Amino acid sequence: MSNKMWGGRFGDGPDAIMEEINASIGFDQRFAAQDIRGSKAHCAMLAAKGIIAKADADQIEAGLDTIAREIEAGEFSFSRALEDIHMNVESRLAEIVGPAAGRLHTARSRNDQVATDFKLYVRDTIDHLDGQLAALQQAFLGQAEAHADTVMPGFTHLQTAQPVTFGHHCLAYVEMLARDRGRFQDARKRLNECPLGAAALAGTSFPIDRDQTAKALGFDGPTRNSLDSVSDRDFALETLSAASIAAIHLSRFAEEIVVWMSAGFKFVDLPDSLTTGSSIMPQKRNPDAAELVRAKSGRVIAAFSSLSIVMKGLPLAYSKDMQEDKEALFDALDALSLCLAAMTAMAGSLTANKPAMAKAAGAGFSTATDLADWLVRAANLPFRQAHHVTGTLVAEAEAKGIDLHELTLEDMQKVEPAITKDIYSVLSVESSVKSRTSLGGTSPDNVRAEAQRWRKHLNQA
Ligand code: ARG
Repeated sequence: MSNKMWGGRFGDGPDAIMEEINASIGFDQRFAAQDIRGSKAHCAMLAAKGIIAKADADQIEAGLDTIAREIEAGEFSFSRALEDIHMNVESRLAEIVGPAAGRLHTARSRNDQVATDFKLYVRDTIDHLDGQLAALQQAFLGQAEAHADTVMPGFTHLQTAQPVTFGHHCLAYVEMLARDRGRFQDARKRLNECPLGAAALAGTSFPIDRDQTAKALGFDGPTRNSLDSVSDRDFALETLSAASIAAIHLSRFAEEIVVWMSAGFKFVDLPDSLTTGSSIMPQKRNPDAAELVRAKSGRVIAAFSSLSIVMKGLPLAYSKDMQEDKEALFDALDALSLCLAAMTAMAGSLTANKPAMAKAAGAGFSTATDLADWLVRAANLPFRQAHHVTGTLVAEAEAKGIDLHELTLEDMQKVEPAITKDIYSVLSVESSVKSRTSLGGTSPDNVRAEAQRWRKHLNQA
């Protein structure tokens, strides 16, 4: 007896099962616009080379424009029996223009067609993501400018290490995002060769002009090997690897928001619109958006892994396995785009709780390194000895339950006679950050200068 749940679905036997597993129209209709763009370029080239008649080409192009409008307006009815976007478009074209439609597929195969469409889609998406990454950089930059001298604890091992400024922390993300954009641009540069004209796998006997189609579609030029052209999905993998690294960066900041919003920290707050309440605990404001950004990085990284696994065992050239390149990539890049939007909203609107940050910045003997550095500079101690002296002073303060600057001069001189009252000037968090003037350091002046450099750079781009 057939299972009721599944029986209905696969009730029509092998044909229905084949259609279900074989069809990609459910997802590849996403790049209908790119498919039509590619077909129009191909058609124009065929006519220019005299491979098809100008009159046929005119009809085909007008028909393709009609289809583009129908799809745009949501009036196109996609058919699973027609398998994929390529056959759906071609079949509709035949309805609209008649037999001339059959000439469009001259000197072309779905193999080079899908590779071209997918590249165009990935390229368009990279351009969109680049704009989003730039917007997020702007959001961080705005915070950096506002908080060039807002002190907070810098952490290593999530233990208070040395004071830094919140602006400096924000600029760290501006740097990461710049590298993310660079990785996407690298991927874009390498993918920008046009596979159209490779045909099924071996090229074609028709006198096509691949330079013309490449140029019409905004590629730098045609790919050089027909086998590689139809079997390469490096461009998708490379884009997913860039996306994964970007998602990891977003996830790290998301984690920081979660930690910073917790009761133990209270460093930042988000507007109500970007948090949720609890259905049972009225006091709670949960950073759900940040948590979801953190979680969604999983999908992006998984997509890279999933496509790598699809590709790794495939002999040249095309195999139907490659149809599985699309859903994971769509899902991953959609997720990244949503995460960028959410993160830009959060980074732009979060408010820093300066008193809480300042208080925490001074806790945990965060200026111990400053004390050690003073001993090196002012008392000429070797750094290792200064480190030892400082450790002793920290232990003493800890035992007394006080901060370093609360130790008396006598207490300090008992440990190291060379200490003078000047030492107190380096024990505040403000003087600590101010002193970190080395290139790339956290001093407010540095942060302001770097923010200005970024502002100029981002406004130019
Ligand atoms: N829908 C197919 C894909 O996405 C198009 C290419 C089909 N090629 C073929 N030889 N069956 O990969």
